[in-house]
Amino acid sequence: MITVRDCLESDLGAVAELEAGNILEPWSLKVLNDWLKLDRVTMVIAELDGEIVGYGSYEKVLDEAQVGNICVSNRARRVGIASMIMTTLEIRARDLGCRVMLLEAAVGNVAALGLYEKLGYATLNIRKKYYKNRVDAKIMQKQL
Ligand SMILES: CC(C)(COP(=O)(O)OP(=O)(O)OC[C@H]1O[C@@H](n2cnc3c(N)ncnc32)[C@H](O)[C@@H]1OP(=O)(O)O)[C@@H](O)C(=O)NCCC(=O)NCCS
Repeated sequence: MITVRDCLESDLGAVAELEAGNILEPWSLKVLNDWLKLDRVTMVIAELDGEIVGYGSYEKVLDEAQVGNICVSNRARRVGIASMIMTTLEIRARDLGCRVMLLEAAVGNVAALGLYEKLGYATLNIRKKYYKNRVDAKIMQKQL
């Protein structure tokens, strides 16, 4: 069974492992800890039969929600977990008064771009050399 719930400090070790193995510019455990403590941050994790297999977060800035990293373990992909995480984040953001969700993804990240397009995100612009000073990013948004 898949469940999505609030992320606890005790979940961050598993989150850091997923982050390190899957994200272009991974956040350390310390950065994740600092992030989770911020009042303006909402972070959720997804569990598959009790095991953490994904997470996602956003930061509320006035009436905008800026998505942080989202990731799903290799072994649990393509069963809708990232979609569940994003939908949960969108509902939370809307309930807190956000009117738009913003995010970025590397131009070659077919999976992430496929996910965001399927969920109704539209491209705003391209930021050159956004990741590691060499990989371009697509900036995308969705009205909530
Ligand atoms: C991007 C990512 C989070 C998607 O997670 P997921 O749980 O597999 O996504 P979902 O199962 O919810 O997929 C939803 C839709 O996204 C698209 N999608 C997902 N993976 C895809 C892939 N490998 N290729 C093309 N489209 C893909 C599809 O449209 C899919 O719908 P479908 O399965 O009905 O065709 C996952 O691949 C991941 O963690 N990647 C590494 C980390 C990363 O790049 N994070 C994003 C940083 S911006």
